[in-house]
Amino acid sequence: MAEVKAGLQDVVIATSSICSIDGARGRLTYRGYDIHDLAEHSTFEETVFLLWSGRLPRRNELEELKGQFTEHRPLSGEILDLLRRLPPPQHPMETLRTVISALSLYDPEAEDMSEEANRRKAVRLTAQMGTVVAAFGRLREGKEPIPPDPDLDHAANFLYMLKGVRPHHDDARWFDIALILHADHSFNASTFAARVTASTLSDMHSAITSAIGALKGPLHGGANEQVMRMLLEIGSVDRAEAYVKDLLAQKKKVMGFGHRVYHTEDPRATVLRKMSEELGRHAGVPQWFAISRRIEETMIREKNINANVDFYSASSYYVLGIPVDLYPLVFAVSRISGWTAHVLEQYAHNKLIRPLAEYIGPAGLKYVPMDERG
Ligand code: COA
Repeated sequence: MAEVKAGLQDVVIATSSICSIDGARGRLTYRGYDIHDLAEHSTFEETVFLLWSGRLPRRNELEELKGQFTEHRPLSGEILDLLRRLPPPQHPMETLRTVISALSLYDPEAEDMSEEANRRKAVRLTAQMGTVVAAFGRLREGKEPIPPDPDLDHAANFLYMLKGVRPHHDDARWFDIALILHADHSFNASTFAARVTASTLSDMHSAITSAIGALKGPLHGGANEQVMRMLLEIGSVDRAEAYVKDLLAQKKKVMGFGHRVYHTEDPRATVLRKMSEELGRHAGVPQWFAISRRIEETMIREKNINANVDFYSASSYYVLGIPVDLYPLVFAVSRISGWTAHVLEQYAHNKLIRPLAEYIGPAGLKYVPMDERG
């Protein structure tokens, strides 16, 4: 019997020059730049250019990309109509998956597989993901969508379109950093799903729709939402330790902890921990960070399992006023940049992704006519 690597754990299936993860040392780089360096000095727009083009932009190149985002951020009347007509979803990720898939029906280049057209589609999808999420967030509350503000960058625009007020500079900058931290993470499940679809030479929108479907699950992009639900249920610091111990005693997973690749702290969590603390302190609601910290201490003491990217992003988004069930969608607002970078890379060096399975079912059976079946 061939060796089966369940969940493709530790299997290297391709080369990539986009993102590297050193799970033993807890290091993450995009195109060779350390994530901490980017979080401190870069912006989401610049990071997107880096992911797509393999180098930091010159001033005019960054301005050009920002201009393209400004041009493509608004949604067409057809897409806004669709958002108005779709029934309320059981989870908002259903709406995002549907609307992003529908964008291809209005994209004249949907089936154009040239590299130039695919890059333009990457720009449009990245520009519009946040607008779709914000418009959905408002429409379901009976509010009108707010058109993007051409003077705001991507992070500030999202908060503005969602909440209807221009965000404070510090909030916008922290959210910008959150977008940088979530932009890519190598062959994670959703990116892999996008690459599998792209490897059949299917189109960019199909690949991204696959990715959104994979991101939706609680073991991936759905974890940050579950973290916040847990924090709300715990409610106060003094209840946190017992709550976690109880979950562990029931052999349940504590959301926002553990990682397939990192054996030490997820380097994104280091930045997000600080973000959660500072945002909470400035907003006068320090309890969400305090509860998170107590959970983290308990998890390390009891299981020696570290927080991942989803743990402190939850309390950060809560303080920024983002509705809890939109957290996985916010993940997509950022990760669309990495997905599209990977789809472009897949197209450039394509090989159909088609692994094998070790068959363990019955063999040699003979067809039994309906009347003779027991
Ligand atoms: N809470 C409690 N125990 C956890 C845990 C968590 N969050 N994550 C891992 N473990 C434990 C498992 O129970 C298992 O213990 P066992 O060997 O005694 O059975 C061991 O650690 C290995 O976990 P496993 O789920 O097999 O590892 P994986 O590599 O397949 O899974 C995750 C990785 C991320 C899916 C897993 O850590 C998880 O489910 N985390 C919670 C969801 C989450 O935060 N996802 C976002 C990831 S960025």
